[in-house]
Amino acid sequence: MRKKIVAGNWKMNKSFDEGIQLVKEIIELYAQEVKSQTYVVIAPPYIHLHKIQPLLFDMPMIALGAQNCSEMSSGAYTGEISTAMLKSVGCDYVIIGHSERRQYFNETNDLLAKKIDIALTNLLQPIYCVGETLDERNSGKLFEIIESQLSEALYHLPSENMRQVVVAYEPVWAIGTGQTASSAQAQEMHGFIRKIIAKKFGDELAENISILYGGSVKPDNAKELFSQPDIDGGLIGGAALQARSFIDIVKGF
Ligand code: 13P
Repeated sequence: MRKKIVAGNWKMNKSFDEGIQLVKEIIELYAQEVKSQTYVVIAPPYIHLHKIQPLLFDMPMIALGAQNCSEMSSGAYTGEISTAMLKSVGCDYVIIGHSERRQYFNETNDLLAKKIDIALTNLLQPIYCVGETLDERNSGKLFEIIESQLSEALYHLPSENMRQVVVAYEPVWAIGTGQTASSAQAQEMHGFIRKIIAKKFGDELAENISILYGGSVKPDNAKELFSQPDIDGGLIGGAALQARSFIDIVKGF
């Protein structure tokens, strides 16, 4: 049985106090209202992580994640945060390869492969993001592009490490636009991703990998997206910034 996961990526939002308040509200609503076995990952900005960790002690279904990490282990890399540091403040997950990192910070599949490796070395589960732009979708090369994002960053992994990876399909044109992929479009891509992972790593491993959908997931479309056979949860941006909408999405399962 693969894990159902709803992850909230806060991006560069929330002051320190606002962030702590939001986590407290999420914990309360989760405890009161969530009946399914759905894991939640909270991925706030780095500065919030240390303070959130103790709030989650009694919440085994809610984990902490970072939005990014360095590909280096330590040293003179001003402004960077290592995966060992993330582990030391209680992170279990790290988002790697978000399209905003690819687009604004020129992160390539080769670099992302290094980030995946060092995350796994420090026992963090990567949430590895893939997704196409609208031009790429319209060019007809959609599936090739997703396949190369997967193969160049993940195919070097031994199976035991690949098992730790969560994949997130986030079509760039659906992020922050209010224009979500239809459940059929999302299912088509998730099915494709699972199929090519099976081709490389075998059916059993592919069946057990969680593949999340991201891009304008809201309370009113979560249920339909999550009911698709190959969609195992969501990576949520805007709607993760309020406890009510985030928990309503979690309740889509
Ligand atoms: P939105 O939910 O705001 O479209 O963002 C999705 C996303 O990028 C999550 O990583």
